[in-house]
Amino acid sequence: MDSSTAAALAYEAVGDQLAPVYVDTGLMRKGETEGIRETFAYMDSLRIVDARERFLDELAGITDPEAKRHAIGEQFIREFETVAREVDADSLVQGTIYPDRIESEGTIKSHHNVGGLPDVMDFEGVVEPMRDLYKDEVREVARALDLEEVVSERMPFPGPGLAVRIIGEVTEEKLAVAREANHVVEEELEEYDPWQALAAVIGKATGVKGDNRVHGWVVAVRSVESRDGMTARAQDIDWETLQRIQSRVTGENENVARVLYDVTHKPPATIEYE
Ligand code: XMP
Repeated sequence: MDSSTAAALAYEAVGDQLAPVYVDTGLMRKGETEGIRETFAYMDSLRIVDARERFLDELAGITDPEAKRHAIGEQFIREFETVAREVDADSLVQGTIYPDRIESEGTIKSHHNVGGLPDVMDFEGVVEPMRDLYKDEVREVARALDLEEVVSERMPFPGPGLAVRIIGEVTEEKLAVAREANHVVEEELEEYDPWQALAAVIGKATGVKGDNRVHGWVVAVRSVESRDGMTARAQDIDWETLQRIQSRVTGENENVARVLYDVTHKPPATIEYE
């Protein structure tokens, strides 16, 4: 939502001088690339870069959350540099918002688009038109720009995407589980109007599928209320809804053995898992 709003804002300001780029990292939500293509159909020059394999390669073997963010931040920049060379652009416009900077400047974590940036970048300038805004203020900008509701009202999704909803190494198999489970959770919890609802692949445990014991994935479901993401409260979700999520997530993926619901507020937990 932040980068979409930044792109729309920049387009309003400089029109065709903007080279809008969507990097398909493979870490995004189900249907995200198609959604972006539709939302920004009015920008003739939109480029969609298929970088899925490159991101997976860069993330191979990395288990530390901060190292993951840095690998993702670095690869994002390399992708943008490649396009910038092609179109002869000298500045990068980013959708960084105030909480990203605060959390990166402190000791909490480095956001992929702030502390996660490489030291050397082939750009003369980085333009961050929303660097002083909170999320609810970004929504107001998005509405003022007449962006579709799927953009302005959609729940926040982290730049490093599903990578911070997978504990440990990011693999194609875990990504597939996380992508489908996040889709189910977003659908089933829509009526609760959460600030964020998500599913994370947190490890493996034993289960029984059919007549066999399996060592399958454990998926944690989280749904929180918040104003700005800095603090959050775990939502009270009714049992039937949780059971429906459990049944869909274990039913749709034979390698998922368990589904848990996370009742922890922020603090002490964070919203994301890494
Ligand atoms: P946490 O997990 O720190 O998340 O409680 C607070 C808010 O920030 C989002 N988030 C991120 N957004 N890059 C982003 O663009 C990141 O690296 C990142 N990590 C967390 C998270 O989804 C929540 O809205």
